[in-house]
Amino acid sequence: MKIIGTGSVLPKKIVTNDMLSEFLDTSDEWISTRTGVRSRHVISDERLEDMATEAALKALDSAGMKAADLDYIICSNVVNEYITPQLSCIIQGGIGATCPCIDINCACAGFIYALQIAESFNIAGTVRNVLIVCAEEPTRMTDWSDRRTCVLFGDGVGAAVLTEGSNIRGFRMSASSATDKLWQYRTLQPTPYITKEEKDVPLQMKGQDVFKFAVKASSTDITRLLKDNGLKASDVDHVLLHQANIRIINAIRDFLGLEDDKFPSNIADHGNSSSSSCPILLDECSRKGLFKPGDRIVMSAFGAGFVSGAVLLEW
Ligand code: UT7
Repeated sequence: MKIIGTGSVLPKKIVTNDMLSEFLDTSDEWISTRTGVRSRHVISDERLEDMATEAALKALDSAGMKAADLDYIICSNVVNEYITPQLSCIIQGGIGATCPCIDINCACAGFIYALQIAESFNIAGTVRNVLIVCAEEPTRMTDWSDRRTCVLFGDGVGAAVLTEGSNIRGFRMSASSATDKLWQYRTLQPTPYITKEEKDVPLQMKGQDVFKFAVKASSTDITRLLKDNGLKASDVDHVLLHQANIRIINAIRDFLGLEDDKFPSNIADHGNSSSSSCPILLDECSRKGLFKPGDRIVMSAFGAGFVSGAVLLEW
């Protein structure tokens, strides 16, 4: 397939590191040097499903495609206020599409997994036009009195429209179960039969373990992807990495031995917006005119599970 349109929407509330240090034992100095984040967009009175619909319409508009022409909608989402129906069905109604739709939860790697699903459906001959929407509100998962997690995240939606073509050149994906490293637990409705102990637990993270996994998984995925395609790292024009921590991005950059200007980044203004981070960055770079036709782009993401994935695109 090929990506022919992108769109993104951010919540209007911007929270700076100094605003966080008003109620947390933290500082702009600690957060910006350890993570690269200076501010983030945080959901306040918006609803994630409305932002997702708006981002989908922007992506359709930039693709010059009508919702009626879509054959499938894939929504990547970890949490939202609805347990059911799936967010993709809400987006389908919001944009006036009639095609089948599906939600996936692959944490921060959701955009890459969604691209691979779209490409596989297309190869199977079942779809021509696909809308991917990554809609995330990780700021609703963290404990806002826990300085180790809540300072990292921001909310937002990124969307992309794909049609038939040969822009996507290959994938490398991984999953390795490590459920004690990054997790959140929420209780369901009680029943007369529940006897086990249950309690809500906000997002828990073993930060250094996640950091090491992220650098290793992304470096390995990208190396394998390049080898599959007979390319060297220097043959790649742009590397769009999941925006989790600028030190993770720099470590992968050093592993690949590439110049800094091949790694566009928006982490300073957005923080980690989970699976939305890659498509928001793609949309921002595309609208700034960073990509020329024929540019080779690698996108790579990693997250809870653990899961990871990388894709090679030719713009
Ligand atoms: O999408 C994937 C999601 N997650 C990630 O990618 C996260 C990956 N991990 C990381 O980015 C880093 O591990 C963190 C940014 C989470 C933490 O950075 P670190 O350099 O690994 O710090 P640390 O956890 O080793 O903590 C160092 C110190 C500790 O204090 P002590 O025990 O040395 O006294 C922490 O309590 O920094 C303290 N600390 C803070 N201090 C001020 C932790 N968070 C903060 C904070 N402000 N916000």
